[in-house]
Amino acid sequence: MPAVSYRIIAIDGPAASGKSSVARALAARLGFVYVNSGAFYRAITWSLLQRGIDPNDHAAIAQMIGATQIGCDLKENQSRVHIGGVDPVDHLRDDPVNRAVSAVSAVPEVRKIVTEKMRSYAQLHNLVVEGRDIGSVVFPETPFKFYIDASPEVRTRRRAAEGQRDEIATRDRVDSSRRASPLVRAAEAHVIDSSNLTIDGVVGEIVAQLKRKGLHEV
Ligand code: DC
Repeated sequence: MPAVSYRIIAIDGPAASGKSSVARALAARLGFVYVNSGAFYRAITWSLLQRGIDPNDHAAIAQMIGATQIGCDLKENQSRVHIGGVDPVDHLRDDPVNRAVSAVSAVPEVRKIVTEKMRSYAQLHNLVVEGRDIGSVVFPETPFKFYIDASPEVRTRRRAAEGQRDEIATRDRVDSSRRASPLVRAAEAHVIDSSNLTIDGVVGEIVAQLKRKGLHEV
């Protein structure tokens, strides 16, 4: 029997570009599973902070990663990460996690495990996956790649409106300059500036592109 090939829609972009809202809405519209890869990096960061591990101690992070069970359940067609048997969903956007997550996600052992997880879900479901390196590294073979951007002013305003203290500029700098899988626009990605668009507007543009590319689910 031929192997089933699931569809992967990659949505990359910087912090507060609107990609989470767009990816969630798009997945609901297509009936695909929504996967937020940032939630995995945040869960790992939360867990090591809980254990008192320094987010810059690569060796200790690598050791913890090797010894900790990281998984994910499906709930209402969205993936929900758990680590060491705990679901940390209420803590993923805590200030200490916001401050440490870029350093932790630069550790190659951390990237490797999250990448492996994403690829394993692609064996089972059609996915909309959001992150920083989804089109460039995790699923370079997918023809459905999008890069969502917005001006720094709009992104800062969005985070403030969510009541979050998040040093977006600092995270952008670290996420874009790290050696392992930095945030880049995949060459073939369709770029959308969401600064002056609603979520529905961005989803509409993506759906139009997907139709053009022959995705028969849309
Ligand atoms: O999407 P987010 O802002 O919740 O992601 C949190 C951090 O996780 C982000 O600052 C960098 C890291 N990340 C990453 O390195 N690669 C991904 N594919 C997704 C997130």
